[in-house]
Amino acid sequence: MLRSVIAGSGSAIAPHRVTNDMLARIMDTSDAWIRERTGVETRYYVEPGTRTTDLGVIAAERALEMAGVAREDIDLVVFATMTPDQYFPGCGGLLQSRLGLRPVPAFDIRQQCSGFLYGLQLVDAHIRAGLARTALLVGAEIHSGFMPWGPGSWARLAGDVEAPLEPGEWETTTSVRHLTVLFGDAGGAVVITAADDGSRGVVDQALYADGTDAAKLCVPGNGFARRPYVDPEQIRRLEHVPVMDGRYVFKMATTRMTEAARALLERNGLTPGDLKLVLMHQANLRINEFVQRSLGLSDAQVCHNIQRYGNTTAATVPLLWDECVRGGRIEPGDAVLMVAFGAGMTWGATLVRA
Ligand code: ACO
Repeated sequence: MLRSVIAGSGSAIAPHRVTNDMLARIMDTSDAWIRERTGVETRYYVEPGTRTTDLGVIAAERALEMAGVAREDIDLVVFATMTPDQYFPGCGGLLQSRLGLRPVPAFDIRQQCSGFLYGLQLVDAHIRAGLARTALLVGAEIHSGFMPWGPGSWARLAGDVEAPLEPGEWETTTSVRHLTVLFGDAGGAVVITAADDGSRGVVDQALYADGTDAAKLCVPGNGFARRPYVDPEQIRRLEHVPVMDGRYVFKMATTRMTEAARALLERNGLTPGDLKLVLMHQANLRINEFVQRSLGLSDAQVCHNIQRYGNTTAATVPLLWDECVRGGRIEPGDAVLMVAFGAGMTWGATLVRA
């Protein structure tokens, strides 16, 4: 039976480091609040004009290099993002062209924070079916475009202006502070190759979606239920910014990630103690600490980087994988469980022998 092995990984971190104290210049928040409630200390933003595909290209080049795979060998591209360069076409084909790949199938998928795990299942199914042998899976996001901040806010964030923000704008930035402080920009990528020795690769996956409560975490505006689909009124009402019921998402993330992990381990005859490492989607350190306790995982079995990068949605899991491989925390053959929960609602777990 063919197995899908993660043969190489790479990441792309945006250049501008933004601390919690810098955010406190433009909204009513504090380093203490953000750290205590979320664990986030810094996040990185791109320069305006940088595209999600740009981050994907950098991450993919690094993954190809680590895998030692030639561009002409890539026969499938899957690009997961909820922040594409433009409405259409999606980033998959753009990445294919930017990397100079052959004209191979390129999928664009949008399962938000579960995007990387959904992409992994798509690639694995292609490999098991004999439709692909060497795939590129990318998760990348530019969330800084969601920030409803005017030029005055950006200038104060950068420290170029010291005068206090004009009260109207302060009120606007503060109205969405529970959301904006969470996110950062980044890209992650893996090269996945077919192997038939069975000792390494994707072992099993369990993915889920339930749209019943989709409105609790969504972008309400700028969609084709409107005519025209985007207009200045929607932007004035901040309908281009995600709405999020944070408490609901927190509760569902802890419940669903724990359930998915348990179900997958059980059906593979494993216990949490059999895992070398668990890589959880990085949305909130407190969510992940809760899941860690529920599953009875030791500190050595979990790895977090949300403190540095914030929530980078589809990029969190490949970013974490890449850091762990390069840092020697994941070695060939290790049992690694990936778990994610995100908008949709979508969630799932993936068991891999590294
Ligand atoms: N700074 C200071 N105070 C704040 C901030 C902030 N950044 N944000 C909210 N507050 C205030 C609120 O206004 C509220 O004040 P009040 O008591 O005077 O009304 C108080 O803090 C508590 O607010 P809550 O929203 O109840 O705070 P909570 O403890 O739930 O934390 C948080 C909010 C961090 C958003 C948390 O609910 C969370 O992380 N939820 C999960 C988020 C998540 O995983 N999202 C996934 C999105 S990714 C995707 O799929 C697109």
